[in-house]
Amino acid sequence: MADSELAQQLLQQGEYDDSLRDQTFRFQKKAGQFLVSTSAGQGRAVAKQNSVPLTNEPSVSVAVNWLLGSGTHAQTPLAIQADGTRGIEMRWSSFHGDGKLNVTPDHDEYDSFRAGTLECFGRPMDAMDVRSCIGCHSTVVPPPPLPLTSQTMIANVGCERCHGPRKKHVVLAERGLPEQIKPMIDQHDAGAHMETCSACHRDERSVSPDSTAAERARFQPYGLKKSECYLQSSGELTCSTCHDPHDTTSHDRGQYIQQCQSCHQPQASAICPEEPSGDCIECHMPLTPWTQGIAFHDHWIRIVAGTASHESKTDLEASP
Ligand code: HEC
Ligand code: HEC
Ligand code: HEC
Ligand code: HEC
Ligand code: HEC
Ligand code: HEC
Repeated sequence: MADSELAQQLLQQGEYDDSLRDQTFRFQKKAGQFLVSTSAGQGRAVAKQNSVPLTNEPSVSVAVNWLLGSGTHAQTPLAIQADGTRGIEMRWSSFHGDGKLNVTPDHDEYDSFRAGTLECFGRPMDAMDVRSCIGCHSTVVPPPPLPLTSQTMIANVGCERCHGPRKKHVVLAERGLPEQIKPMIDQHDAGAHMETCSACHRDERSVSPDSTAAERARFQPYGLKKSECYLQSSGELTCSTCHDPHDTTSHDRGQYIQQCQSCHQPQASAICPEEPSGDCIECHMPLTPWTQGIAFHDHWIRIVAGTASHESKTDLEASP
């Protein structure tokens, strides 16, 4: 965190006021650490059970040592104890890369918090929370009791996370024999491919019965696996049909439409009776708002109610 662009912006800004809590957070850099302080007694504090006592000091600070997310949608700072047993997901995040802070998604339950506990900084995390959170945002996380440090882990999603450990492959490739060792994960096999992506992007196993349409739209494998395009194309359709997993998401609409049309051709497959050369994505993978101006394209490719030209587009909804 300390060396990130966001940290520089916050240091310049100096502080952040959380109007929902009537609380001020102050930022400082000391001995290479990014420190956040707040007055622990402040705010609309209420008694809550299971809170971890922080300290009896009226004003306290924590060192924020992790920053998660590329920033396309958001970046969320974390304060994690090196042994990985506890942490705090900070109350505020930066959205859309503009450096402006706002409340971290799903933190409404901490609008009220118990003064003098970790809650005055955000959501307290136990060892399980810490590992799952970091686990989806990195390549290798060491098993406990190894500490979570830059020496023991590989941050961000790197090659081995999707291709499997390839050391032998690299060794043999250096001897000119790369084909002797195949990748451990065959990314051309649709099932294996979907398993890889689902581990982080999530499928039906992560969807609770009371999930909202917006939550489900956030889980691309969940949607894609329900789509007739996936179910009826005998393993031809994977995430990499439309995305290069080595790059950021393309926003070239024409390219996606071409992908749809590569299968939906006259004679070969069903043709759209509605707008056979229109913007397929707008009607069949509509943008579904989640929170804080973040929206996801629903990857359950289907005929969505309200998208026919004779219907009013204001009824557009993502039915479960
Ligand atoms: C280890 C967890 C993990 C796995 C496995 C994973 N992803 Fe991701 N992916 C992420 C995270 C986290 C982000 C958000 C970007 C970030 O913060 O680094 C992301 C972002 C993306 C994006 C959007 C990039 C952008 O423009 O911001 C695409 C597309 C994507 N992943 C596709 C895939 C595909 C396809 C697979 C399977 C081959 C896959 N991912 C496997 C964690 C993962
Ligand atoms: C099950 C895997 C998983 C877990 C657990 C998880 N994330 Fe993510 N996270 C993802 C994926 C995949 C994305 C990219 C797609 C999206 O934005 O939903 C992402 C996106 C993000 C983004 C936005 C990144 C961008 O590109 O703008 C932030 C910030 C983030 N996660 C923070 C966290 C924090 C903090 C935690 C823990 C408290 C956490 N995540 C737990 C998988 C996970
Ligand atoms: C998010 C998952 C993911 C990550 C991370 C990732 N790859 Fe890939 N990679 C894939 C997928 C999926 C394919 C297959 C693409 C396709 O079907 O066209 C692939 C294909 C390849 C190929 C082409 C060979 C083949 O089997 O088709 C090479 C080479 C490759 N990746 C190297 C790398 C390297 C090097 C890194 C790290 C810098 C990396 N990959 C990181 C998912 C990933
Ligand atoms: C790999 C081939 C493939 C790709 C790529 C593909 N589809 Fe499909 N899709 C199919 C198949 C197969 C079906 C089943 C009906 C049929 O045979 O046409 C289908 C069905 C559909 C249906 C009808 C769904 C239902 O529930 O009745 C829609 C709508 C659709 N596709 C739209 C799209 C759009 C939009 C895209 C691009 C974002 C796309 N498809 C990409 C193969 C594909
Ligand atoms: C203006 C919104 C809109 C656009 C744009 C659009 N569609 Fe459709 N599509 C629909 C609607 C609505 C239906 C259902 C029509 C019906 O059942 O009469 C449909 C039906 C389909 C079907 C099912 C056909 C069948 O016989 O089962 C496919 C496949 C399809 N669209 C593919 C596409 C593709 C590919 C594109 C882009 C080239 C596209 N659509 C663009 C709204 C749209
Ligand atoms: C048929 C084409 C298609 C397939 C297959 C597909 N996507 Fe996408 N995806 C899109 C389109 C279109 C967008 C919107 C791109 C844009 O912003 O213009 C998108 C956007 C995304 C984003 C950015 C967040 C969002 O919703 O806008 C992520 C992450 C992502 N896809 C992940 C995946 C994963 C993981 C898979 C496999 C389970 C997958 N996609 C399969 C077409 C596809």
